[in-house]
Amino acid sequence: MCSIIGYASRSSVAPVLVDSLKRMEYRGYDSVGLATIDNGRILTRKGVGRVSAVNSSLNLITMQGQVGIGHTRWATHGGVTEKNAHPHYDCAGDVAVVHNGIIENYKDLRDDLIKSGHKFKSDTDSEVIAHLLESYSRKNLNIAQIVSNTCKRLKGSYAFVAVFENGTICGSRFDEPLIIGPADEGYFISSDVLGFLPYTDKAIFLDNKDIAVIEGKDLKLYDYDGNPLFRQITQVAWELGSIDKGKFTHYTLKEIHEQPLTIMKASSRNVEKLKLFCDIIRNSSTLYLTGSGTSYHSALVAKHLLSKFAKIRAETIVSSEFQYDLAPMDSSSVLIAISQSGETADVLQSVKDAKQMGAKILSIVNVPTSSLARISDSFLTIDCGPEVGVAATKSFTGQLSVLYSIIDELCNGCLGYQLSKLELVDALNEVLASEEQIEKIADSITASKDIYIMGRSIHYPIALEGALKIKELAYVHAEGIATGELKHGPLALIDTNSVVIIINPKDATFQDNVASAHEIKARGAMIIGISDEPDDSYDMFIKLPTVGRIHYPFLEVVPLQILAYYLALRKNADPDYPRNLAKSVTVK
Ligand code: F6R
Repeated sequence: MCSIIGYASRSSVAPVLVDSLKRMEYRGYDSVGLATIDNGRILTRKGVGRVSAVNSSLNLITMQGQVGIGHTRWATHGGVTEKNAHPHYDCAGDVAVVHNGIIENYKDLRDDLIKSGHKFKSDTDSEVIAHLLESYSRKNLNIAQIVSNTCKRLKGSYAFVAVFENGTICGSRFDEPLIIGPADEGYFISSDVLGFLPYTDKAIFLDNKDIAVIEGKDLKLYDYDGNPLFRQITQVAWELGSIDKGKFTHYTLKEIHEQPLTIMKASSRNVEKLKLFCDIIRNSSTLYLTGSGTSYHSALVAKHLLSKFAKIRAETIVSSEFQYDLAPMDSSSVLIAISQSGETADVLQSVKDAKQMGAKILSIVNVPTSSLARISDSFLTIDCGPEVGVAATKSFTGQLSVLYSIIDELCNGCLGYQLSKLELVDALNEVLASEEQIEKIADSITASKDIYIMGRSIHYPIALEGALKIKELAYVHAEGIATGELKHGPLALIDTNSVVIIINPKDATFQDNVASAHEIKARGAMIIGISDEPDDSYDMFIKLPTVGRIHYPFLEVVPLQILAYYLALRKNADPDYPRNLAKSVTVK
């Protein structure tokens, strides 16, 4: 959610820290702050807004010092204000802290610390870490002991990095990622490999309860008992080149347009791993799928296809509900967890719960070094490159592509997915070519307050996904509805102000959808059809090319992504950074 960076170098760190924070801004972006060490003093600048704006007003890059930490915030506790922006300090101002996660017992800690004389300056949960570090620093302990005593008092999830006046950087984590980047000039410590990837492609992934201490050019790792630790250096392969907008005005539009390429790439590698994945599924007695948001929608598509083509019943449970809906699992159960980031707290919690019951964990991720990939028995990657836009676009079709490959393998090629990929790519390009027409449709529905999206069968999850895109990008109320449910309630909402989008390809769902469209039309709503077959009930029509029937979800979601993008522009919203959201939801 928030991004953390620390760097101890041989040259000025502020420009590097600012650059890193810009790269990680997708994780959270309501306020920004930096602390550097200049001649044994901590300098701080922080402010509300995006990194570029705060840098322009506060000139962050000119801060002196060869050691420093930085943070972009996604508010959880305390409003979006300068005083709540990180870094936070102890009373004496000897230590500055940046934190990602939620300290669940912060109220009790804060009360205790206040009783013993500490003065708090912010409303955040994070500030307790600075005061705990301060109180243990007074006890003549070494740095590892100071950090471990502090961590032992914290309940909840955290990754934090602190810098002391003497230039020592330390950090620890529990259920939030924290990664060391050993570079030529010194060590980075960050919540994300993207924080340091231009400077080093080496990474040390800290485990829960590891403590890192960076003093000058030395890195030392400890456990909570103060024992030295060794952690392997990993080489990170990541396509940095693609973190620019190219000819597009926004990452979101660029990523929508990348989909013909990314669905080809997803599932083209790892043929052996795919077979292993499928063997594990075949040998399971019960199969579950989980994910959050968009990733959950891809699980819903997969559930349908697994049952129809691979004859495997799977249960889908949205990750945030998993812990309340604990299905009976044992060592013959398999949970497939789907997550672009591989860091979503609800997904990781579901996996932990399932693991505890003995289930095998298979995952589908975009980030191969993510926490989810690392705790899975096996994982497949969607390989769509960094997805910077907060709304998931290319990762969704990438997930579908991997899931289609799995199901194809499970049913011995009955989907013909691999063979039909080229045809699918041509069809996607055709849909992308309708961008201008879709932009005009966005123009004509900009004023609408409610948009309903309907579909049946495998098209219903696409209706949910389209509605999610419109909500998060354009801040318009949008609802995905299984068309057959219309008459069981939603029809009461339909009137002349309603906009209804019907996903209606020419398959077994077509006739029933047409009947529903006419019922809607009779109530005066505006209807937009997305189909390869026109119908006189549609006021506007987005034509899809004809492809193999089960491939329609790939094509249907693209016009909805484009529509959401242009609606956002018409509402003056930034499609790359929707309000109140973050790319990686690492808190519950
Ligand atoms: C929607 C969106 C979110 C994510 C969800 C899960 O556009 O981006 O709903 O899909 O937060 O994220 P991952 O896939 O990283 O677990």
